Amino acid sequence: MARRKLALIGAGNIGGELAAQAARLELGDVYLFDIPDKVGVAQGKSLDLEQNGSILGYDVRVIGTSNWEDLVGTDVAIVTAGVPRKPGMTRDDLLGINLKIVRSIAENLKVQCPDAFIIVVSNPLDAMVHEMKKATGFPGAKVVGMAGILDSARFQLFLAREAGVAVKDVRAMVLGGHGDAMVPVLSYCTINGIPVRQLITQDRLEAIIARTRNSGAEVVKLMGSSAYYAPASAAVQMARSYLYDEKRLLPCAAYLNGEYGFHDIYMGVPVVIGASGVEKVVIIELDATEKAMLQQSGAAVRELIEASARL
Ligand code: LAC
Repeated sequence: MARRKLALIGAGNIGGELAAQAARLELGDVYLFDIPDKVGVAQGKSLDLEQNGSILGYDVRVIGTSNWEDLVGTDVAIVTAGVPRKPGMTRDDLLGINLKIVRSIAENLKVQCPDAFIIVVSNPLDAMVHEMKKATGFPGAKVVGMAGILDSARFQLFLAREAGVAVKDVRAMVLGGHGDAMVPVLSYCTINGIPVRQLITQDRLEAIIARTRNSGAEVVKLMGSSAYYAPASAAVQMARSYLYDEKRLLPCAAYLNGEYGFHDIYMGVPVVIGASGVEKVVIIELDATEKAMLQQSGAAVRELIEASARL
């Protein structure tokens, strides 16, 4: 079997960290792509990472390029291109500029990588992944967005710190859009099987939910740009599940056409990712509050998708 090929579109902070993780895990050969103006950065990071392999003992090619034809035969494309947030900006403020970037990437992926599984990370996430599907014409199973794993990771961390337990014992899911209206589903949130409401008071849970919703902005405020370690790990988890047919059940922005009562929209829901891509949207029961929050989050995503269609 030929070596797997990963295309990382965008050689910024997340792109670089994605390349580093993909190389260490030897997921396949890595093509770090950026526009001609930035190809030096893509090539420099790639060379650094190939040299890193001779210390750490991994052996994959890492190649910086701005040539779309180099991406022919890509198995997984992870799209992080676009401008990140600056302090004080919301993800939605990025719509106009990142929409143009995502459209142009989609045109190229459609021609050069028709069989790739595409993971979109660029913000505003739900609108960008919707645009990617629309502009490529690829099936929903092959175009997915990364957000839920990241938002859930943040939620799990804060819950673990509050309860004074190991973060790996906390299981939680954040669904809905990757925006201020994201939906932490408390009814499925457990600490090693114990419902979280038995261990953490409602007041503290509410504070933790507020911090989770704001946590992307919290990082931006601290360092002047977006998070990249955890976002990269989340996208790699999705890529791995596809490449190794792991069938992980993960919260991801998936194409909904009827599921949860939504039509032609992308939103964070539990999905199973395997060799066919998004193999299943898992329908779970939600309580009345969670249902209402999901509706509200869906309405916010819908507004962004409609705004995109006008641009
Ligand atoms: C964040 C960006 C990656 O939430 O959306 O940090």
